[in-house]
Amino acid sequence: MTDTKPLPVPRAGSALGDSVRFVGRFLSSPTSVGAVLPSSRYLAYMMVRDLRLQRGDLVVEYGPGTGPMTQALAKLDLVHRGIDYLGIELDPEFHATLSHRFPDLAFHLGSVADVVKILDERGHRQARAIISGLPFASLPTSIQAAVVRGTYRVLADDGEFRTFQYVHAYPLPAARRFRRLMAKRFHGYVRSVPVLRNVPPAYVLSYTK
Ligand SMILES: C[S@@+](CC[C@H](N)C(=O)[O-])C[C@H]1O[C@@H](n2cnc3c(N)ncnc32)[C@H](O)[C@@H]1O
Repeated sequence: MTDTKPLPVPRAGSALGDSVRFVGRFLSSPTSVGAVLPSSRYLAYMMVRDLRLQRGDLVVEYGPGTGPMTQALAKLDLVHRGIDYLGIELDPEFHATLSHRFPDLAFHLGSVADVVKILDERGHRQARAIISGLPFASLPTSIQAAVVRGTYRVLADDGEFRTFQYVHAYPLPAARRFRRLMAKRFHGYVRSVPVLRNVPPAYVLSYTK
């Protein structure tokens, strides 16, 4: 993966409005929101570029927030290509915003820690791609472990899991613990160059089985 110029991915909504809403949610739930601002469209583009998706596949998004990555995924024309999408969001306000903004996509209000049950109850098969905006480093260890376990179970053998970590936080113990947990189950790992046009700059991490 390289940090090339992004395609003209439209913004998910009013950038200022989303930022204000995001700061408000951060102040009320700092550890689960885990970031002060939504991801930039440049980071969102890097999270979805070159995903190998085909008709009948399922793509799952963890913690879509105000939807910057959802918007980048929507630009891949999922619905018309016959690709299923499911976003799982814990925060009811974000969930309501997403459902209003992307009426063609499905959003589940709940925790990714229950991803196996959620997919099962909705009759979904395994996911070809999982795009995660979860703030792993600030989540409780038990939730981290449940998400890693569940992700391994619901990801297809030839599927790909992508997440991001902020460059400044990458060496911190909580971020390293998450990568250690992932390394126990996932054998393929690629880290992108830093995406500088994001506040703060971030790496995209890609995992395969
Ligand atoms: C750092 S924000 C990222 C939002 C968006 N993906 C972006 O990049 O701007 C983390 C998001 O994960 C959600 N979240 C946190 N814990 C979660 C959980 N256990 N299950 C589902 N969503 C969760 C938060 O509510 C928030 O929307």
